[in-house]
Amino acid sequence: MNAQNMKHKIDIFDTTLRDGEQVPGCQLNTIEKIEIAKHLELLGVDVIEAGFPVSSPGDFNSVVAISKAVSEPIICALTRAVEADIDAAAESLKYARRGRIHTGIGASDYHIKYKFKTTHDKIIERGVAAVKYARNLIGDVEFYAEDAGRAKLPFLAKMVEAMIRAGATVINIPDTTGFCLPDEFGQRIKYLMDNVSNIDQAKISVHCHNDLGLATANTIAGITNGARQVEVTMNGIGERAGNTSLEEIVMILKKHKELGLETDINTKRIHPTSFLVSKLMNMPIQANKAVVGRNAYSHSSGIHQDGFLKNKINYEIISPKEVGVPDSSILLTARSGRAALKYRLGLIGYYFVNGEMEQIYTDFVEMADRKKDITDEDLQKLVGKKKTTLPIQLTHLQVITGSPLQPVATVKLNFEGKERQATSSGNGPIDASLKAVDKIIKKKAKLGEFLIQAMSGGSDDSGKVHLQLTHKKRIYYGFSANTDVVTASVEAYIDALNKVI
Ligand code: KIV
Ligand code: ZN
Repeated sequence: MNAQNMKHKIDIFDTTLRDGEQVPGCQLNTIEKIEIAKHLELLGVDVIEAGFPVSSPGDFNSVVAISKAVSEPIICALTRAVEADIDAAAESLKYARRGRIHTGIGASDYHIKYKFKTTHDKIIERGVAAVKYARNLIGDVEFYAEDAGRAKLPFLAKMVEAMIRAGATVINIPDTTGFCLPDEFGQRIKYLMDNVSNIDQAKISVHCHNDLGLATANTIAGITNGARQVEVTMNGIGERAGNTSLEEIVMILKKHKELGLETDINTKRIHPTSFLVSKLMNMPIQANKAVVGRNAYSHSSGIHQDGFLKNKINYEIISPKEVGVPDSSILLTARSGRAALKYRLGLIGYYFVNGEMEQIYTDFVEMADRKKDITDEDLQKLVGKKKTTLPIQLTHLQVITGSPLQPVATVKLNFEGKERQATSSGNGPIDASLKAVDKIIKKKAKLGEFLIQAMSGGSDDSGKVHLQLTHKKRIYYGFSANTDVVTASVEAYIDALNKVI
């Protein structure tokens, strides 16, 4: 390969589960985080920033659980330049096949003066101490120079040099406030490449925020000037106006081969992952969002439709297939067959064996008779209500509870083709109901994590239930949502038991 054809690999550091999850209203429970992490692994990201372990027991447990559930990407945990944070991060990464601690401190005069109220020298001392402390606990340490986008360059270079000397393997240059212009940000990276004597001993990473709508442009400027890792989120979610979008960077590098930069992302997994993140985080994607927006591949004006029909190349630079977007030519109507339904379900990440497809198809036809345009959201609902072909189906639940009564539940299940009934008491209505299910099913599965969460708020809200069952050392997840949390709990329990069976 000659030098001109040489490609440089850009590492994709995904921070959907850390910077993305900081968005109010986007909080996820551990089970949802595991589901997203598994999708990120399939997508092919190099690093998953799984959380900020010292910030809460929930974050700590999520980093532990993701470290156990995902093995390909590096699992990263965020800290401040504080020993207790670093200890918590190292502990949470104990099960990671490859773990990384991401520590750092402010680099701009604003942060040094107004946030840390200290001097430039002391900031470097604290950063160096944190990096050394972390390196004693783990082999891979990334240092972030917070607000590097507004830091004075000679100081930033001095800081970066000291952190690499202290053992940092990756140096993150964040434009924390989204202030920089692309040229200026690119020049910052170039300055560091040219002026930090030991820069060849670490990888430069760029982490841009989108306050002025420039996150993607700044990230590209960073990597064309020498950075080799990008910090991104799915759908660009994140603090305030968000972070750089993973899908935009990946597709820019794929479409502009002349840049000589490439990633390991399986672009066909972009749409299913984007859809899942949007759904679990309750964060709709704007219709005209680049790469993943609902309108990104539809041509509506007469002139465009005419040109598109003559040759797609006139108006289409990305084929929807390339990013796993359901092919607009496969529209689902009441006349669509099983193959079309199976294809569209596959595009949003659902795969069923033929036996299971029958009931989904019957439900689909019923829905398509009532509704002209079957969207991905409709398919989600359809799959969520698929019940009748499962080995265990709940047909009846009655609970007597109150104070000072001991709760008693009667459950009827369709199990192995027969209706069976059991009654049990328990220390609460959920306990009584699950014990009644156990009497019928008699499977020795141990109930682990059990979470009940309101969808949005209000006493008439639906409750989401996520739970985990362990059976013969394997973990099975169960989920349901219902305005009645006892019913939701029983349904989630049965959902997991069906997977065990
Ligand atoms: O935006 C930022 O500076 C950050 C750091 C904590 C990496 O998110
Ligand atoms: Zn950030």
